[in-house]
Amino acid sequence: MIRLMIGNQKGGVGKTTTAISLARCFAGRGLRTLLIDADPQGSIAVTLRQRPERYLADFILSQLPLEDCVTGVAPDMDLLCGNRETSAMEQRLLASYGREYVFQKAFKPYLGRYDAIIVDVAPSISLLQACAMVFCEQIVIPVSTDTLSVSGAGATILSAKTIAESLNCPIAVAGLLPTIVNRSYGLTGVVLQMMEQLGAAYSIPVLPEIRTDQAVARAARAHQMLADVDPRSKALQDYEAAATVLLKSLGWKKQKGKHG
Ligand SMILES: Nc1ncnc2c1ncn2[C@@H]1O[C@H](COP(=O)(O)OP(=O)(O)OP(=O)(O)O)[C@@H](O)[C@H]1O
Ligand SMILES: [Mg+2]
Repeated sequence: MIRLMIGNQKGGVGKTTTAISLARCFAGRGLRTLLIDADPQGSIAVTLRQRPERYLADFILSQLPLEDCVTGVAPDMDLLCGNRETSAMEQRLLASYGREYVFQKAFKPYLGRYDAIIVDVAPSISLLQACAMVFCEQIVIPVSTDTLSVSGAGATILSAKTIAESLNCPIAVAGLLPTIVNRSYGLTGVVLQMMEQLGAAYSIPVLPEIRTDQAVARAARAHQMLADVDPRSKALQDYEAAATVLLKSLGWKKQKGKHG
C-alpha cells in the first residue's frame, strides 16, 4: 500500500490542495484511499464543509473504531477530519512514551482496508509531523514558486533525515511537487531551477508541475473538490499527471480482485 505525508515547513504552498487532490486522483483510479487531516487548523473539514461527529483526536485518544470516525467524501475516498482538539491531543501526546509511533500504532489494524493513505500536516515542525513521517515513510513536498517555499522544502528534507536517523526508521522524500506555477512570472524559472538543484542534491525527483488555476479557488469557494467542480481544469489535469508519476515511482500495481 501507499502512505504519503504531504508536508512543507513553509505555509500556503498548496499542501492541503495537494493532499485533497492527490487523494481524489488515487480514489478515482480505484485505490481505496484515506485522507487524514493532521493539521490542528483542521482546514479540510472547513474546505469540504464536513461536520463529522468524530475527529482525528477522538480516534487517537479515545481509541474509537476508525469506521466510526471517517466520512466517505467520494467513491473509494474516506476522510478523517481534524479540528481544534488536534492541538490538545498533540499536547497530551508530547508527554507520552513512544509518542512518534502513535499514528503507526493507531492505524496499523486498519491498513488492509486502504490502498493509499494521505496525511496533510501543518506547516511547522511538530510532533504530529514526526508521527506522520514515521507512519507514512514517504513524503511529498509541495513547493510553490517562491524562494521561501524552496527553503521550507530544504528544512523539511532535513527534518525527515533527522527523524529517520534518530528513530532508525526509513523515511524518504518521494518527490518535490512544484505548485501554483505561473510561467509568465519572471522569477518562476529561477525558482524551478532551485527546486531541480535541491532535488539533485538529495536524489529526490521533481514531479510534474501543478499550474496556477482559478478553478482551485472556485472549488474552495464551493466547498468541493476540483474533480466535482471542474473535472477538466488545468490543475486537476496536472494533479492526475503527478499522481501517475508518483504511483509508478512508488511501484503501485493494481491487484486483480483486491476488492473482492
Ligand atoms: N494550483 C493552484 N492555483 C491557484 N491557487 C492555488 C493552487 N493551489 C493552491 N492554491 C491556493 O493557494 C492557497 C494555499 O493553498 P493551501 O491551503 O492548499 O496551502 P497549504 O500549504 O495547505 O497552506 P497552510 O500552510 O496554511 O496549511 C489557497 O488559497 C489555495 O486556494
Ligand atoms: Mg494546509
